[in-house]
Amino acid sequence: MSHPTESRTPHRRPTEHPTLGIFYEHPDWFRPLFRELERRDVPHRKLRAVDHHFDPGETDTPFPVVFNRMSPSAYLRGGTDQIFYTSQYLTHLERQGVRVINGSRAWRTEISKAAQLSLLQALGLGYPAARVIHRAEAAPAAAEELRFPVVVKPNVGGSGAGVIRFDSPDALRRAARAGELDFGIDGTALVQEFIPAQDGRIVRVEVLNGRFLYAIRIYTPGDQFNLCPADVCRSVDGAELERAACPADAPANELTVEGFEPPPPVVQAVERITAAAGIEIGGVEYMIDDRDGRLYYYDVNALSNFVADGPRVVGFDPFARLADWLEEELARATAPRRSPPASLLSAPATTGAGATLEVTP
Ligand SMILES: Nc1ncnc2c1ncn2[C@@H]1O[C@H](COP(=O)(O)OP(=O)(O)O)[C@@H](O)[C@H]1O
Ligand SMILES: [Mg+2]
Repeated sequence: MSHPTESRTPHRRPTEHPTLGIFYEHPDWFRPLFRELERRDVPHRKLRAVDHHFDPGETDTPFPVVFNRMSPSAYLRGGTDQIFYTSQYLTHLERQGVRVINGSRAWRTEISKAAQLSLLQALGLGYPAARVIHRAEAAPAAAEELRFPVVVKPNVGGSGAGVIRFDSPDALRRAARAGELDFGIDGTALVQEFIPAQDGRIVRVEVLNGRFLYAIRIYTPGDQFNLCPADVCRSVDGAELERAACPADAPANELTVEGFEPPPPVVQAVERITAAAGIEIGGVEYMIDDRDGRLYYYDVNALSNFVADGPRVVGFDPFARLADWLEEELARATAPRRSPPASLLSAPATTGAGATLEVTP
């Protein structure tokens, strides 16, 4: 049996049209994206996670760019295996030199609320105080230093699934004892202080290519944890929104949404968070504490399931911006590389200011 030891440099199949791979799980959410790519004739291949496989020995990757659209909530649809598989596939692609948008680093953050809070801590940003636990019986003791109410949240999140509120240590103790706490697929959870959101609303800020794209405010009637922006079907003025990304029978809910311009320090903070997480496209959620006006970031998402009816709510179609960017990335990844001038090859790698000298293709 022979092994391809001659060359470790990945080479690509000479395809006439370099193709964008889109790796995803949810059957409906990306329809508007696929439609936009089709309309523009952007060569792309749908890589459905459910029936995907790869050869770790391949040195010949057909995709110069792969866009990771895996959903952490796949486990709600019978896709727990796909969540773990995604880590393997992304790491493989990256070793092959494939340009992966929202690669393995973004995915690691996406599937760990504990990692998200550690990151917020490292960046000096506010988040609701929490303890990370891995046994239900540990919940009451972990909550001792926290202010009630608290929520218990599975470490691997997804559209608010499994988030439960407890108003007293007693209620938490009873639930822990009765085996009513669900820690989700990695057996890890947060016990976190519940923040009463000012005006019952949260803000979700989206970035694309690492930069602010838009923000929305979502209004929730009371204690609702299930908050998928693309599922919000009404604007604050009562207009019915077109939910192109959702199946026609998606449950209507009581949420309403409006476009919103966050203050510049928030925009900067969100761009820092996503950059540090390796998230090139994604969304960060925050709320203002009604008691003291403080701002808390609490959810870092690599999967942007854009707001329904973007043109109506935020004034433009985010899927068109996304398609613009993907086209650029595909062109960049496949542009013939110019050799750097000889003078640069012998020059020191950094300039006087310490900035890395970049040779752009
Ligand atoms: N600490 C908290 N206090 C109050 N409400 C919260 C808190 N954490 C989450 N929520 C509510 O629950 C929803 C889902 O929680 P989130 O952490 O965003 O999970 P997911 O990753 O599943 O979206 C949030 O959008 C928010 O409305
Ligand atoms: Mg969320």
